[in-house]
Amino acid sequence: MALYSEKVMDHFRNPRNVGVIEDADGIGEVGNAKCGDIMKMYLKIDDDVITDVKFETFGCGSAIASSSMATELIKGQPVSEAMKLTNKAVAEALDGLPDYKMHCSVLAEEAIQSALEDYEKRKADK
Ligand code: FES
Repeated sequence: MALYSEKVMDHFRNPRNVGVIEDADGIGEVGNAKCGDIMKMYLKIDDDVITDVKFETFGCGSAIASSSMATELIKGQPVSEAMKLTNKAVAEALDGLPDYKMHCSVLAEEAIQSALEDYEKRKADK
């Protein structure tokens, strides 16, 4: 059996939503101390709906595929739904990740949570 699903390979080779949103409403950056990989997530939010999302990853192939899939899953979703996104859901949407690569999908979940927290904080500060 191939180590990585076709979906993982597809999102690794052609990651969706790579880049930066200059006037983002929420930005989250997280890292994994063990592997040293870093992920940054940018959200554009209107009326509590995620209208655009972009990411930058200095990380492994699974991290790239996970963040790409995660952005697809939350784009167009209300903030309340995006908050519920788990790394398991990301891995499932990718038709699975090897066990020792599950932490890469955790990075995607944490980056989104961190960007949403930043958004909520900015909203409260307004
Ligand atoms: Fe670090 Fe994948 S090995 S995120």
